[in-house]
Amino acid sequence: MPARDKLLELLERGKGAYFSGEELARELSISRAAVWKAVSALREAGYAIDAAPNRGYCLSRESDILSRQGISKYLNARCAGLQIEVLPTLGSTNAAARERAEAGAAEGLTIISNEQTAGRGRRGRSFYSPGGAGVYMSVLLRPKEWSFERSGALTASAAVAACESIEAVSGERAGVKWVNDVYIGEKKVCGILTEAVFGLEGGVMEYAVVGVGINAYPSRAGFPPELEPIAGTVLPASQPDAKTRLAAAFLNRFMAYYAAPDPAECMQKYRARSLAVGRRVTVLSGGKAVQAQALDIDAHCRLLVRYDDGTQAKLSSGEISIHFGGGA
Ligand code: BTN
Repeated sequence: MPARDKLLELLERGKGAYFSGEELARELSISRAAVWKAVSALREAGYAIDAAPNRGYCLSRESDILSRQGISKYLNARCAGLQIEVLPTLGSTNAAARERAEAGAAEGLTIISNEQTAGRGRRGRSFYSPGGAGVYMSVLLRPKEWSFERSGALTASAAVAACESIEAVSGERAGVKWVNDVYIGEKKVCGILTEAVFGLEGGVMEYAVVGVGINAYPSRAGFPPELEPIAGTVLPASQPDAKTRLAAAFLNRFMAYYAAPDPAECMQKYRARSLAVGRRVTVLSGGKAVQAQALDIDAHCRLLVRYDDGTQAKLSSGEISIHFGGGA
C-alpha cells in the first residue's frame, strides 16, 4: 500500500488527534521526509491536515472527504468481502461498476465517488451529484440463482438500508416513494438505481449493480432550479464525518439484508416505510398519467393499485407521484 494510503488510515483512525512526525515515520516504516511528502500529497487531494510545531500532524475533525480508510473504520463483519474503491470524481459509479462487472470483477466491488459528472438516474434521467455534498456509490453483486422476481427485493433492501442509515445520521424519519426514492418529509434526499443483467437461458441474474446517491448536505451552488422544489438534503449543513458515516451505515445494513436468506423481513420494513400505501397516487406509464389509490406492496416489491374505474393492477416497474395532502 502506498505511504499516502497508510498515512491516511492512521490519521483517519485518530481523527482530530496529533501524531508526531517521528511516530508516523516509525509506524509507516518510512523516513520523516517521506512522511512530509505523503502529508503534502493528502493536502493536495483536499484533506485538511494541520501541522503544529512540537505536536506533529492532525487530520481535522471537520474533514469529510470520503475515503476507503475513513469508511472502513465504521464497517462491520458483514462488509468484510467488499473491495472498496473511492475516487475524488467519476462520470458515474454505476457505469464504472458495470464496466468492471463485464470485465469479470468479483461480487463486492464497491465504487464510491465524492462527485459524479454524469450521474445516472432511473428512466434515462441524470442524477445531480455535486462534489463534496453527497455520497455516490455502487455495489456489484453476483447473487446465486436469483430470478427476476427476487430482484425486487434487492431494490427494497437498498431502500430500507438507505432510510435506516439516513435516519441514524440525521435523526429524521425517512420514507420510501415506490419504487426506490427516499424522502425526508416531502423532499427526495436519496435515489437508487439498480441495474441487473440476466442470462438469456433460465432468466437467472448474472450480476446486479446497486447504485445509491444521497444528498448529504447543500452544495455551494444549491440545487438546479428544476430540482429545488422537490429535492432536499439529509442534513442542513456539513457535519464532521457525516458522509463517511452515511456510506458506512448504508453498507452495513445493505449487506446484512442481502445476506438474509429470506427477504420477507426486509419487505415488511419496506412496506412500513412506504409513503404511497394508503395514499392517492398518479401512475405515470406509457406517457399517460392515471389516478389511483395505492393499496399495498407485495413480496416482490410490486405496488398494488386501484384505479378510479375500479380495476386493480400490480405494478412491477414504472413511476408514481404521491398526493401528500390526500388520504385514503
Ligand atoms: C434516481 O433517483 O432516479 C436514481 C438515482 C441513482 C443515483 C446513484 S448515484 C450512484 C450511482 N451512480 C449513478 O450514476 N447513479 C447511481
